[in-house]
Amino acid sequence: MDKLQHIFERNRVWASKVKEEQSDFFLKLSEQQAPEYLWIGCADSRVPANQIINLPPGEVFVHRNIANVVVHTDLNCLSVIQYAVDVLKVKHIIVCGHYGCGGIKAALDSCEHGLIDNWLRHIKDVNRFHADKFKGLNTQEKEDLLCELNVVEQVTNVCNSTIVQRAWKRGDELSVHGWVYGIHDGILKDMDVCISSPEELYAKIDSASADY
Ligand code: CO
Repeated sequence: MDKLQHIFERNRVWASKVKEEQSDFFLKLSEQQAPEYLWIGCADSRVPANQIINLPPGEVFVHRNIANVVVHTDLNCLSVIQYAVDVLKVKHIIVCGHYGCGGIKAALDSCEHGLIDNWLRHIKDVNRFHADKFKGLNTQEKEDLLCELNVVEQVTNVCNSTIVQRAWKRGDELSVHGWVYGIHDGILKDMDVCISSPEELYAKIDSASADY
């Protein structure tokens, strides 16, 4: 703790500033959380969920991993989605990638990165599914395109999860969104793949794939 004393100091400054602005802020939050949004984003330190969408603690339930991947056998991610959908009753699930993503870059190069290469296989698969769209592009264009296609793919995975399928079946109001964040300008880009039903999943994802 000694070595990180400055972090504790920052924490106390932050907590007292929040209390100054709203004296019962922490009391209210300690009683319950009722976020409307589940954010599935990259672990990258430059892409902090709450700050990007300018929402305070209590408003966003968050899951982050390398390159915002949703794998059907990842109990960690699935547990977060299940709790968010079934218990917290979030109305929106946002998959947010970002340009300049190290995971995406690593998936496109042919170097060895160790254990993480097993995780990056999921992104290499996205590249393989859309191999024809990458022909003739330079490195930057390939990275940007894979960031976008990866988001669309992970939106599909969220929608196809038993959790979201069951939520739609019982009539829950639940939409899944795909966004890409620009580290260079702080702006979110909507990939326009908002899906709120199984019917939309087939209609929108098919047409989105065709557009790229
Ligand atoms: Co990243």
